[in-house]
Amino acid sequence: MRFIFLSPLLLGGAFLNGGLALVVRTPVKPAVVMVPGAFHSPEFFVKVIKHLDQANYKYLDAVALPSVGHIVGRQPDIDAVKAAMNKHLKAGRDVVLVGNSYGATVIGEAVKGALHYPSSSNCQTSASTSAVKGRVISLIYLSGFLPWISDVEHPETKQDIHGMSPIFNIHDNNGTITPDGDMVNAPPQKAFYNLLSAKEADYWTSKLDFESFEAANATATYISYTGDFEVVYVVGDQDTAISLQLVQSWIDQPGAKFTVEHIDSDHVSMLSKPDEVTALIQKYSVPACA
Ligand SMILES: *[C@@H]1O[C@H](CO)[C@@H](O)[C@H](O)[C@H]1NC(C)=O
Ligand SMILES: *[C@@H]1O[C@H](CO)[C@@H](O)[C@H](O)[C@H]1NC(C)=O
Repeated sequence: MRFIFLSPLLLGGAFLNGGLALVVRTPVKPAVVMVPGAFHSPEFFVKVIKHLDQANYKYLDAVALPSVGHIVGRQPDIDAVKAAMNKHLKAGRDVVLVGNSYGATVIGEAVKGALHYPSSSNCQTSASTSAVKGRVISLIYLSGFLPWISDVEHPETKQDIHGMSPIFNIHDNNGTITPDGDMVNAPPQKAFYNLLSAKEADYWTSKLDFESFEAANATATYISYTGDFEVVYVVGDQDTAISLQLVQSWIDQPGAKFTVEHIDSDHVSMLSKPDEVTALIQKYSVPACA
C-alpha cells in the first residue's frame, strides 16, 4: 500500500467565515536520497537535511560512499545508493536522488532499471506502472562529474583520470587519491569551498578523506540522462573545480537530455547555498509530466 502523509499544515489551515475549515492538501513529499562526492561524507548534507526536515520531508537518506576512505571499486558505491533507494521504492515511496560531483555518477548508475516517471523530454511514454511500488521522480546533479555517453558506447575511448584534474593527487603506490594535487592554486578550501568563510572552509577540509582510485577511474555502464529519467544538471556559477567548458561537454552531447539550472554556488553547493539547493529539490519533487 501507498503511505499518505498529511502535513501539519492541514491542521493550521485557513478558516472560512462560517467556521468551515478550508482543507488544503499539501502534496506527499518523496523520499530524498543524497549522495556526496569523492572525498566527502554524508555529513556535508547537514544543512540541506535540516531545511528539508523543516519543509516536512520525512524520509531523508544521506549515503556514505564505501569508496571514501576504503580501497574499493565503484560497485559498492552503487550498491549503497541502490539499497537506500530500493528501501523507499519498496515501501511505496517516490524518490528524488541528489548527487554532488562524483555522487552524480553513482546515482546515475544506481537508477538503472528502477521504476520511474517519464522525463520532461519524453512525456508521451507511459509511466512504468506498479500498484504498490514507488517510482523515481528525478535525479539532481549538483555540479555533477559525469561519464560521457561515449564512455558506455565505446568503453575503449574512456580516458584515464590521471591528468584529468589538477586537484587529484593520485597515489599509484596504494590506489588512493587525495584532493591536495595543487595546494598553491587549488587547495580544497579554494577548489571546493570558495564561497565559505576561511574558518568554515578549513573545518570542512579537515573532514575530507581519501578516495579510492579504482572507484573514481571505473567505466560507467549506464547513462541516465538520455531521456529515461528526469535529470536536472545544476551548474554552480562560481564552481572552480569543474570548468564551464567541462559542463558544456556533457550538456552539449547529442542525445543528452538535461533540464539545466544555475545557482550562484561553488562546487559543494549543499554547504554554500543550502536554501537554493533545498528549493531545487522541492521544485523537482513532482513528476515532470504531471
Ligand atoms: C583507468 O581507466 C582507464 C580507462 O578506462 C584504463 O585504461 C586504466 O587501465 C585504468 N587505470 C587503472 C590503474 O586501472
Ligand atoms: C598512500 O600513499 C601516500 C604516498 O604516496 C601516502 O601519503 C598516503 O598516506 C597513503 N595512503 C594510505 C591510505 O595508505
